[in-house]
Amino acid sequence: MVCWLAPEQTAGKEKPFVYTQGQAVLNRAFFPCFDTPAVKCTYSALIQVPDGFTAVMSADTWERRGPHGFFFRMSHPIPSYLVALAIGDLASAEVGPRSRVWAEPCLVEAARQEYDGVIEEFLAAGEKLFGPYVWGRYDVLFMPPSFPFGGMENPCLTFVTPCLLAGDRSLADVIIHEISHSWFGNLVTNANWSEFWLNEGFTMYAQRRISSRLFGAAYTCLEAATGRALLRQHMDATGEEHPLNKLRVKIEPGVDPDDTYNETPYEKGFCFVSYLAHLVGDQDQFDRFLQAYVQEFKFQSILADDLLEFYLEYFPELKQRKVDAIPGFEFDRWLNTPGWPPYLPDLSPGDALMKPAEELAQLWAAPELDMPAIEAVAIGSWKTYQLVYFLDKVLQKSPLPPGNVKKLGELYPKVSGARNAELRLRWGQIVLRNDLQEDFGKVKDFLQSQGKQKYTLPLYRAMMGGSEAARALAKETFAATSAQLHSNVVHYVQQILAPEGS
Ligand code: BES
Ligand code: ZN
Repeated sequence: MVCWLAPEQTAGKEKPFVYTQGQAVLNRAFFPCFDTPAVKCTYSALIQVPDGFTAVMSADTWERRGPHGFFFRMSHPIPSYLVALAIGDLASAEVGPRSRVWAEPCLVEAARQEYDGVIEEFLAAGEKLFGPYVWGRYDVLFMPPSFPFGGMENPCLTFVTPCLLAGDRSLADVIIHEISHSWFGNLVTNANWSEFWLNEGFTMYAQRRISSRLFGAAYTCLEAATGRALLRQHMDATGEEHPLNKLRVKIEPGVDPDDTYNETPYEKGFCFVSYLAHLVGDQDQFDRFLQAYVQEFKFQSILADDLLEFYLEYFPELKQRKVDAIPGFEFDRWLNTPGWPPYLPDLSPGDALMKPAEELAQLWAAPELDMPAIEAVAIGSWKTYQLVYFLDKVLQKSPLPPGNVKKLGELYPKVSGARNAELRLRWGQIVLRNDLQEDFGKVKDFLQSQGKQKYTLPLYRAMMGGSEAARALAKETFAATSAQLHSNVVHYVQQILAPEGS
């Protein structure tokens, strides 16, 4: 789909912006194509732009053609959903030997500082684990605030939300995730959207392998625990037996695959890949298998059956032991039965970070606050994801006894006044669950500042599930922001505000 933004919808507010989003089946509205991930081809494009505009695409060759022309070619075969174009008032800065950041001029310096030097570390770690990075360059385009995703893995040029510009590199896991798609998704691709977990489950696994190498097991397990909490929330909200809670989703004719989007392919997929690694028992051997898997299926589109057959051929002793049929853990059950994952990887290496956060949340949930005990915990040194984990625990225990959340916000301005989007989301959820009306303005401000779907929808659900004042806040916020939001997000918010049949 081609998204046309007026100047007010950009960061600079002076010039219009246009971008395309292909995944899942939106590129049929951009150019004629076989709009299925089963088909891959190369492409080239000649783009003419007005004075003062720059075009960028998901291509490995970029050439100027005269004062207004840009020529692009992608020389590797890719599925239609990975063709992407953006045109705007764009500038760039080098951040590594094969990487630049692209953004509106007012954001370029912040983008450069956030990622200078580190993207190459991520790429190098990925290459060590999964084999050569075949796409040539890896650039990152910072999108206008209404971009509905954290990141989109368009080859050679990942598109990301400007929320990643946190100032402290704390949200780099999104970049590592999109880099991981360079092998899982962009080289080896799900043949249809029912097998979306092949893209996202393997990518979550690859992301956490890179993260373990670079940041250690403790931090990575903490981040994975946050992911597991999202899966828990999702399954609680839908019921574990919901058909969307299978890895292989049945998508009926006429159903938009985007409408089936949820945490299951990501986090249950991560658990299944972790289970396959657990069966092997040796991390190095499993890493070598992942390399072999990429080599075997690169530039192809596959089904889960292709993966599993290759896995059993690669590990003949596992095949002989019939590991695909262990009662309770059958591969068929993993793929075709809804519900909580039968196997969860051990996240206890993260305990040193998680336990203090859990204990602190427990202190805040007490009817009589033990302030000396609370003040003895120095959260000043906590990293963003440790705070996120703490806030998720506070949210789970909410509503807290009257007055506690107000005090919490006062004691931790770092949390209640955060500029970091992951913290603002959690604080907003806590504010709504506890009906802390004096902070409702922060929820509105946050929703006005960006339009990421995974931040927007949970907050509208929380508002509509809250007090009358919270529902009024939802209506007021939507009236103020709907013109800026992505049309899909508008549609999903409308469903939350006025559910069918009401
Ligand atoms: N490919 C997805 C984004 C996507 C999925 C767009 C389905 C359209 C339809 C991307 O790689 C992704 O998963 N992004 C996450 C990042 C997170 C898991 C680190 C996001 O946007 O939140
Ligand atoms: Zn992804």
